Amino acid sequence: MKITVKKGKLAQTKTQSVILLICEDEKKLSGEAAAVDNKTGGLVKEMLKSTDFTGKALQTAVLYAGKNAPFRRILLAGLGKKNELTAEKVRQTVAKAVRHLCELKVGQAAVAPEWNLLPGQKNTLIASMVQGARLGLYKYLPYKTQEKDDSAEMPRLEIICDPADYTLAAAEARKANIIADAVCFARDLVSAPGNEMTPSILARQARKIADGKKLVCSVLGKAKLKSLGMNALLAVAAGSHEPPQFIVLEYKGAKKSAPPVVLAGKGLTFDAGGISLKVAAKMDEMKMDMAGAAAVMAVAHATARLGLAVNLVCLIPAAENMPGGGALKPGDIVRSYSGKTIEIINTDAEGRLILADALAYAYRYKPAAVIDIATLTGACIVALGEEVIGMLGTDDALKAGIKKASEAAGELLWELPLWDMYSEMIKSDIADVKNTGGRQAGTITAAAFLNKFTGDYPWVHLDIAGPAWASKDRPYTPKGASGAGVRLLIEYLKNIQAK
Ligand code: BES
Ligand code: MN
Ligand code: ZN
Repeated sequence: MKITVKKGKLAQTKTQSVILLICEDEKKLSGEAAAVDNKTGGLVKEMLKSTDFTGKALQTAVLYAGKNAPFRRILLAGLGKKNELTAEKVRQTVAKAVRHLCELKVGQAAVAPEWNLLPGQKNTLIASMVQGARLGLYKYLPYKTQEKDDSAEMPRLEIICDPADYTLAAAEARKANIIADAVCFARDLVSAPGNEMTPSILARQARKIADGKKLVCSVLGKAKLKSLGMNALLAVAAGSHEPPQFIVLEYKGAKKSAPPVVLAGKGLTFDAGGISLKVAAKMDEMKMDMAGAAAVMAVAHATARLGLAVNLVCLIPAAENMPGGGALKPGDIVRSYSGKTIEIINTDAEGRLILADALAYAYRYKPAAVIDIATLTGACIVALGEEVIGMLGTDDALKAGIKKASEAAGELLWELPLWDMYSEMIKSDIADVKNTGGRQAGTITAAAFLNKFTGDYPWVHLDIAGPAWASKDRPYTPKGASGAGVRLLIEYLKNIQAK
């Protein structure tokens, strides 16, 4: 879908449909809504007098505008109560509106930003409208050979604004489009089936987004990983014919000497569980176990396109967890890149193994902060549900920055504690640490395990096992891969830019 900003008046726009965002308690139409209503001889007002459409959150209705209007339809979309309005509601409502039009196969729509919806936040309003529309209409189509037409996208949305607001609106829409591109890119990577998204293919995708100047990609292959001693990553990959890859993306947008933020993303292109094989039910969904990697790659690409004033290093350990003849076994002991030894209790707790090597490797960059993002534990879904990111970490300022970014991005997140007692649960009798801590506090013991491999840098771990994959449609997150963490991390990087 293409979103463009144009100078003009909504009520005078020649288009298939105009979208009006209406609050529940709005007694009187104002601004562009009133002008649109006038063009139709009061059809909108008439509808609002009935109970057919009340402006309740996410409600939609279609009116035909009649001969005197330059637009054919009016799509009314409810925002809910005005005093409860947030950027998140705007994203959801705009998504609902364009999805309704898309179902009607309407190929063109126009909408005006009503600035008083989010007073003093013009940029946020534009960004929310653009992202709601783009993300709501996302579809993954590369493997549909028969039904292309039925699932066609709405090709055009125009944002019509006053000439005085044009520069601001166009600039913000451009940035919001880049961020939406990133979310859709992450969704594409995660949606791709495991046979066509192997560690090597993921590495190829990383090379493709790097331009070699601002964003530089290097990939460490199996031989290099062996010589470095990245044995935890190698151990996870040992049961598969697919060789592991360690992908590095580097971006410099701040002073050369400024310490970078390091993002590490779990890149299991398929997690069968290994010798501790998973049950068959929903095993297909484990193609999404590289959602952390996808998020990190998408953030790197967007950061470079936006030209953010930060230094960024992205580390992506990628492997396939399979039960082949060479596979890692329960009881094995692995000597990790950090030098610490790990007793393997369950080969299905593999994400923490590959991240252990990445977090230890991060130390060489003398980072200002390290954030890892991973579909790490089913326990996180049990604790927080499928829409919420679990956050654990060692640095209060970093955690506060991420919390703030999560609120702005509308990506829900909740902190879990990382008290010392949890690391008792992963003590091994014969090695330095074991890779599982039993049934209790599974998300926390996983983070406590990672913490054994972090340096003294500020560190936060984000468990996206729930939000990475939507089991049902949400307003701007269609069922399937969600792109979780992408908007959150871009927002965080935007906020910490060098002035
Ligand atoms: N990739 C899974 C976690 C997961 C589960 C993500 C469901 C998304 C949805 C991870 O590698 C895993 O298998 N974790 C185990 C850990 C256990 C063996 C300690 C789990 O959660 O069961
Ligand atoms: Mn697993
Ligand atoms: Zn996994």
